[in-house]
Amino acid sequence: MKKIFLSEDEIPRKWYNIAADLPQPMRPPLGPDGNPVSPDMLAPVFPMNLIEQEVSTERWIDIPDEILQILYRWRPSPLVRAYALEEALGTPAKIYYKNESVSPAGSHKPNTAVAQAWYNKQFGIEKLTTETGAGQWGSALSFSCALVGLECKVYMVRISFDQKPFRKMMMETWGGNCVASPSNETNAGRAVLAKDANTPGSLGIAISEAIEAAVTDEKGKTRYALGSVLNHVCTHQTIIGLEAKKQLEKVGIKKPDIVIGCAGGGSNFAGISFPFILDKINGADIEIIPVEPASCPTMTKGKFLYDNGDIAQMTPLLPMHTLGNTFIPEPIHAGGLRYHGMAPLVSACVEQGLASPQALHQLECFAGAILFAKTEGIIPAPETSHAIASVIREANKAKEEGKEKTILFNFSGHGLMDLVGYEKYLNGELHDYDLPQSVIDENLKALEGLPKPEAY
Ligand SMILES: Cc1ncc(COP(=O)(O)O)c(C=O)c1O
Repeated sequence: MKKIFLSEDEIPRKWYNIAADLPQPMRPPLGPDGNPVSPDMLAPVFPMNLIEQEVSTERWIDIPDEILQILYRWRPSPLVRAYALEEALGTPAKIYYKNESVSPAGSHKPNTAVAQAWYNKQFGIEKLTTETGAGQWGSALSFSCALVGLECKVYMVRISFDQKPFRKMMMETWGGNCVASPSNETNAGRAVLAKDANTPGSLGIAISEAIEAAVTDEKGKTRYALGSVLNHVCTHQTIIGLEAKKQLEKVGIKKPDIVIGCAGGGSNFAGISFPFILDKINGADIEIIPVEPASCPTMTKGKFLYDNGDIAQMTPLLPMHTLGNTFIPEPIHAGGLRYHGMAPLVSACVEQGLASPQALHQLECFAGAILFAKTEGIIPAPETSHAIASVIREANKAKEEGKEKTILFNFSGHGLMDLVGYEKYLNGELHDYDLPQSVIDENLKALEGLPKPEAY
């Protein structure tokens, strides 16, 4: 069977919260004074119903029916067997991908955007602010705000704003307002521009701008929404892995051997992998691989420390792998993977030996994306190409070993708004960036005075 579908009544009705099952409990986020943050301290930034999810250690969280009604527009998403890719690789491996590109915005991001918009609306909020890298998250939130009736303001990282002009048009079509970040609209943006007027920007800068815009609303009716990293975002994305599990069961597969997802802030990787990490915690033999860019090697070369999620240090200190909040990654086309930190839940999985990260260079990823497009047909987002390149490596390894492994990966989004990257690749204008250790050390030096998380 090429495509495995679930009917609407088979959709998971609860999200999975891995915080309940980690062998060692999560280290808490800290405030500027070094003490754990209380839910009240987050209240100017997020609505309390989402803060409750953020700090929850309940294993299962009910998905409200109103949210499911919206998700049914494209969910359950298909699980697809990549027969043509397998054949091209001549591998005995079975490759399955969860196709999250079928959502209206083109990626996994609406899974949490819809939920966040809905909870904010319930809480009486009128407007959401956010950052976006590649533009996938900004479009997902604009789409979701249109559906539930909220205003939406998006700060889009400058380099992506220039590389992907049609993402802005998508946001505006759904009624969102999108500006390039750093912008002149916030103190955080102006401070960065004063230092470097030509900066490509970063997710860390855009987050600062969006939080500032939310907390300075005098009416108190604006909140901030984050597209990745936080616990509740990862939890919302687990609908991907929960569906995939049911779909694999339908074709008689009890467990995959390898689960792969690309990782920027960690949310789509969390979504596909956490339900399988639960099986791993319970003894199943599954290799779990988050894949990051070699030019932004947060998990493979960064350190597990307390750091802020943004450059203006407006977020709490999060226990995560980081390259330092001042790190500005090279302007690779996988804009959604240009983030200095990693979701604390994903970092905890890596530190506790439940996931083994890989870092790949962009030329290998684009080559993988092109092979995927020529075999399976869909043009992948540059972010997704990192997962694909890793799948190809693992499928080739299975061929060398003569093993019929089952590989599951998350096809996090399509690349139809990212064709400038493909144009540059096909014209031979892209190259790989090797990030010198000295740059990492330099950025991490700024964190020396901060508290250190207890090792897992
Ligand atoms: C298609 C796609 N995949 C992956 C990512 C990375 O984000 P995350 O690690 O939160 O899934 C992004 C972020 O913009 C994206 O657009």
